[in-house]
Amino acid sequence: MGATIKSRVEAILAGITDKYLGKDLLAAGVVRAIGVDGKKVSVRLQYAYPVDRGALAQRVVKALEDDARIDAAVVNIDWKVVAHAVQNELKPVARIKNIIAVASGKGGVGKSTVAANLALALHRAGASVGVLDADIYGPSQPRMLGATGQPEINQDNKLLPKMVHGLKLMSIGFLVEEDTPMIWRGPMVTSALQQLLNDTEWGELDYLVIDLPPGTGDIQLTLAQKIPVAGAIIVTTPQDIALLDARRGLGMFNRVNVSVLGVVENMSSHVCSECGHEESIFGQRGGEQLARDFEIPLLAQLPLDIRIREHADSGAPTVVAIPDSDLAGRYMDMALRTAAELSKRPRNRAVGLPNIVVQSGSGDNR
Ligand SMILES: Nc1ncnc2c1ncn2[C@@H]1O[C@H](COP(=O)(O)OP(=O)(O)OP(=O)(O)O)[C@@H](O)[C@H]1O
Ligand SMILES: [Mg+2]
Repeated sequence: MGATIKSRVEAILAGITDKYLGKDLLAAGVVRAIGVDGKKVSVRLQYAYPVDRGALAQRVVKALEDDARIDAAVVNIDWKVVAHAVQNELKPVARIKNIIAVASGKGGVGKSTVAANLALALHRAGASVGVLDADIYGPSQPRMLGATGQPEINQDNKLLPKMVHGLKLMSIGFLVEEDTPMIWRGPMVTSALQQLLNDTEWGELDYLVIDLPPGTGDIQLTLAQKIPVAGAIIVTTPQDIALLDARRGLGMFNRVNVSVLGVVENMSSHVCSECGHEESIFGQRGGEQLARDFEIPLLAQLPLDIRIREHADSGAPTVVAIPDSDLAGRYMDMALRTAAELSKRPRNRAVGLPNIVVQSGSGDNR
């Protein structure tokens, strides 16, 4: 009897699709335990990305209790972000589980806006998140997230990130004068950014979102080689020319073995603020085609909407400015899809293990 109910529970779980993992709960490997006690059942699910536990539990309980053979169901859900493998055996940064690089083949496609909203959405989902604005050509995260002034330095000579909307922010923009044109040579950039990454007191982070400089030149290539990235996302507009650049960006990450989590198509369509009419002014389905060609997920298609620009300009991006809107919902979907995609990648087992201190002998170690 118990065994048949258990297989019934499994069949029900196999009939529930996880939107972000794109698989049913059984196939997704999130089912940790199934308990059967007469006509009462319990299920434990364990996720590696932030899930809305309440909503999901309700959905699973309902599916189980709709079955005539089950009287009552208890569903427990846990999630814990784990560290994922980085490229070429680079050493991960201590206490940062995953670095997500946001890149674009060319400038002005909305990379920084995507990075800011991605970070805010991951934080809203419950993860601990930092942002490193590494865009030497146009560090815009301080303005977008509403932070000013120079960062403080602690006793250990570490830079303290600014806390903004629950995120830890460090920007190359904090360290240079605004409106000063920045002329950087390649090696300077790499060492400055590595220093910003390593000399900031990030604390424990599930995700660090890095806003990379746009383009695919030497600077970007070196960064893609040296920063231990768990996954990159490419932002593009649907225009042919932007797509060409996005292809170059994808090619660059592939060459240096950085795993690409997917493509975000920004400014997919324009929503008229007067009548609500939606129009594809930059061409149609470019990002979709790109994702298909490279066999990577299309993480989001975001509309060109004047509110997105207004929010970004005012220091409170869309996810925090209008959290209950459909627009913020699109960013939440993008973020959870990104996190779910990352959760499918190989783990990095070296992160999170305690440091082992080897002491020689049994005597006095002074
Ligand atoms: N979906 C959108 N709808 C409306 N405006 C947007 C959208 N995405 C970005 N913007 C606006 O477009 C401008 C460029 O965006 P953003 O600064 O994010 O691009 P970027 O790719 O980071 O540019 P840069 O190469 O200068 O760093 C900003 O003013 C931003 O507010
Ligand atoms: Mg930018």
